[in-house]
Amino acid sequence: MARVQFFVFCLLLVLALYQFQDVQGAESVPGLGINWGALASHPLNPNIVVNMLKDNGIKKVKLFDADPWIFGSLAGTDIEAMIGIPNDQLSKFAGSSHSAEEWVEANITKHLHGRHGIVNIRYVSVGNEPFMKAYNGSYAETILPAMQNIHRAINKASLGDIVKVTTTLNADVYESPSNNPSDGDFRSDIRDAMQQVLSFLHENNSPFLVNIYPFLSLYQNENFPVEFAFFDGQGGTVQDKDVQYSNVFDANLDTLVWSLRKAGYPNMRIVVGEIGWPTDGNKNANNNNAKRFYQGLLKKMANNKGTPLRPGAMEIYLFSLTDENMKNIDPGKFERHWGIFGYDGSVKFPIDFSGQGQDKWPIAAKGVVYQDHIWCVLNPDVKNLSLLPSAMDYACANGDCTSLGFGCSCDNLDLAGNASYAFNQYFQTRDQNVDSCNFNGLATIVKQDPSRGSCIFPIEIESNGDKRRAIHTLGTHLIGLVLFFITFT
Ligand SMILES: *[C@@H]1O[C@H](CO)[C@@H](O)[C@H](O)[C@H]1NC(C)=O
Ligand SMILES: *[C@@H]1O[C@H](CO)[C@@H](O)[C@H](O)[C@H]1NC(C)=O
Ligand SMILES: *[C@@H]1O[C@H](CO)[C@@H](O)[C@H](O)[C@H]1NC(C)=O
Ligand SMILES: *[C@@H]1O[C@H](CO)[C@@H](O)[C@H](O)[C@H]1NC(C)=O
Repeated sequence: MARVQFFVFCLLLVLALYQFQDVQGAESVPGLGINWGALASHPLNPNIVVNMLKDNGIKKVKLFDADPWIFGSLAGTDIEAMIGIPNDQLSKFAGSSHSAEEWVEANITKHLHGRHGIVNIRYVSVGNEPFMKAYNGSYAETILPAMQNIHRAINKASLGDIVKVTTTLNADVYESPSNNPSDGDFRSDIRDAMQQVLSFLHENNSPFLVNIYPFLSLYQNENFPVEFAFFDGQGGTVQDKDVQYSNVFDANLDTLVWSLRKAGYPNMRIVVGEIGWPTDGNKNANNNNAKRFYQGLLKKMANNKGTPLRPGAMEIYLFSLTDENMKNIDPGKFERHWGIFGYDGSVKFPIDFSGQGQDKWPIAAKGVVYQDHIWCVLNPDVKNLSLLPSAMDYACANGDCTSLGFGCSCDNLDLAGNASYAFNQYFQTRDQNVDSCNFNGLATIVKQDPSRGSCIFPIEIESNGDKRRAIHTLGTHLIGLVLFFITFT
């Protein structure tokens, strides 16, 4: 009997130690969230991502779609979630309150009463940058009715107090002809539509969600003063009435504040839905700039500095958690490199999520399983390279070549290096299938890492990554328990 009691005691002790391990972890600055996109050929297993979020003390996520795989891993955690509805679904929900109710039932209500613990859903963002100029007004008619129908459906499910409806707006919904914030107003072509959206947000006590990108200010304008994109004020200032601006983020957000004032909503709450700095794909996109940008931003949050017109605490979702190799690169090659972490959850640069400005590394994803250590490269024995350009075009159309080119991490490769890089990207995207490393005999598989300098030739991950490991770990624990039992009986 005593033995059994001792055994139970030891078991409880082990469990308690595990629990203790679980509650350790960093604290992030209040109001900090992160965008979690999954436009990758091999998305990280959501369980691995959730553990990474916990390890880094991140307590809020913004998702672009209602992904059941991700919901499953958020269930039972205290991580707060904002769920997006993609633009291509707006017309459906605008036209049918029934569809909206079905969506809310399947994608909200069910998870707030989940059998495996609830998902802490607090916001639904209907549409993603629906008024962006590039969309030519395609969603201007459907955005408000879609928001209204989703909102009604949420109220009908008696969740109106818990889950708020908003929409994510691009910073191009407002503008200032002089660049002075005080001249800001909503774009004239959408001013009426915006007025209605504002009225909806106000009535329902929902925040204005805006994406602000100092990197894009720099990217889109050759003459933009680089220092003004960062927060450490090494450039000049811009005087607007009696206010001085030392960085473009403050000026941009206050342009929105002025626009809201003019529209009659001077006190509407503003949440930054996306902000970040990419690390590759452009001459200004690198780890040093990203580190500098985030350090300034996070310190500003920790100091509750806010902006000149909106001093105080800010709520901000960083963009983004990991690199995404399937993102559309029409806006630029940098689009696939917004991750604070690599595609595999590896760390890129020091970032202190607590905003204390310490030079410390974040905690990488744990338990990621890589595919074999093999790469696909240009076969050095091939002499006739006449088919190389078309082979490279094909590889790059189906794999990610955004690290090649001026100012990028692989901009120092020769033609053979370029070809090898392209072939490998294609090969890894295709799960290292031998048939995908042929290119009419131009390509061959090697076991030695062809990476050189800053140019990394990646190996893809197993997208179901942690299953094998989970079984492995369970196995180890079982063996441990058996040994334990044998020893003590
Ligand atoms: C829930 O959301 C997912 C992801 O957008 C979508 O595929 C599914 O159709 C939604 N469910 C309903 C019933 O609308
Ligand atoms: C918007 O219009 C431009 C120019 O007419 C066109 O190139 C582009 O494809 C359009 N985009 C959409 C989303 O309709
Ligand atoms: C190289 O290969 C191309 C395509 O197979 C062929 O048309 C061309 O004649 C070859 N050139 C030489 C020098 O063998
Ligand atoms: C390698 O590829 C990049 C991007 O396509 C290109 O700019 C560069 O000129 C290429 N280098 C050589 C030596 O062909």
